[in-house]
Amino acid sequence: MSRSSTIAIDGPVAAGKSAVGTLLAARLGYRFIDTGVMYRAITWAALKDGLDPEDEASVTALAERSGIEVTEGDASGVSRIIVNGHDVTGVLRTKEVEQGVSLVSRFTGVRSAMVARQRALAGEGMLIMAGRDIGTVVLPDADLKIFLTASAEERARRRHQEMREAGQTVELEQVLAELIQRDKLDTERANSPLRPADGAFVLNTESIGIEQVVERIIGLAGDD
Ligand code: DC
Repeated sequence: MSRSSTIAIDGPVAAGKSAVGTLLAARLGYRFIDTGVMYRAITWAALKDGLDPEDEASVTALAERSGIEVTEGDASGVSRIIVNGHDVTGVLRTKEVEQGVSLVSRFTGVRSAMVARQRALAGEGMLIMAGRDIGTVVLPDADLKIFLTASAEERARRRHQEMREAGQTVELEQVLAELIQRDKLDTERANSPLRPADGAFVLNTESIGIEQVVERIIGLAGDD
């Protein structure tokens, strides 16, 4: 069996997309691109310019004219994100960006600007791309489509841990409430709502664990 050359990974907040994508990329020798950082970068740029994240026309115009560079992930999966010449890698998980990104990513024009860039980045394959709409919209012809899940409580626990490690003090209950709110915005929005693509394999990172999920995907990708 030949190996899948393009692997789409979708799923909600903290379902394990980056962890799985990074491990998988290392195992297969593929590139890993996390598309969430692109929506975050545009949100950062909008806030920096003093735009209201609800202002569709201005945010869309900004997304269309902004230059976004995503470097290949290093050994620990960290890509650098440069938007209009600013390296924003370290500021994409702040509270302000976190609150604005679900609003900004609803807009049709913002999404088409990002999707065009993502398709260009996908290039020749040997690639794992993670997001919310990769299997459904960005790369509908991907060789393998994966949809990761885990309970909201488990995902909130993971996010809370990450935030604490990043030095932020925040209550688990608050993280859970915000995560449920973001899930709602992501799944109910009119444009490219979060859902498993037709033919996607749905894998639960909570019940079988990240390493096991990676093994399962390698099996599905036909790595021999
Ligand atoms: O994966 P993440 O948490 O970094 O994503 C940040 C936001 O961007 C999230 O609210 C959903 C949105 N997003 C999207 O709409 N489409 C993608 N392909 C990736 C992320």
